[in-house]
Amino acid sequence: MVTLIDIYNHPISQKYIRRSGMAHAISVAYHSFHLAKKYSVRPDWAAKAGFLHDIGHYEWYRNGKWDYKLYRDYDIHPIKGAERAHKLLVRLGEDKYAAKEIAHAILFHTESALPKGEIELTPLQKVITLADEKDKQPGNLHHYRNIDVQKEQALIKQLDQKINDYYSSKKC
Ligand SMILES: [Fe+2]
Ligand SMILES: [Fe+2]
Repeated sequence: MVTLIDIYNHPISQKYIRRSGMAHAISVAYHSFHLAKKYSVRPDWAAKAGFLHDIGHYEWYRNGKWDYKLYRDYDIHPIKGAERAHKLLVRLGEDKYAAKEIAHAILFHTESALPKGEIELTPLQKVITLADEKDKQPGNLHHYRNIDVQKEQALIKQLDQKINDYYSSKKC
């Protein structure tokens, strides 16, 4: 099974997840893991989708400052992220059905890629949307929060352990 630390360690994750904030990605992975039980979705898929949900971000800077107008007008990060995460997961050896479900959850995690009107999200898609909402801070500060690398790795390994514990307890 592809673990979160496998994903975290990959250079593609290091390059792209850092753009939108590693601390945000980790915290959304935790929220997703916890929400997974309530929505009866696989906690490993939820944690992976939560961790990868913003991997599609581009840097919308103008004169060294983040420009929200550029972001609003041109951003396609859910689309880019779904494709990027899918490619990465498949490369790492993820099950192809899981990779598809995770990619779809990333695609639908924010309204910017959705048509207007009522959309019925699957439970996994709902979990990722809610988990992202839970971590949002005013002024998009959640994208700028930092924790040190050792702490990042410890949190990721702890979440892998929680996922393992969940599946071990199921076997008993
Ligand atoms: Fe996002
Ligand atoms: Fe996010």
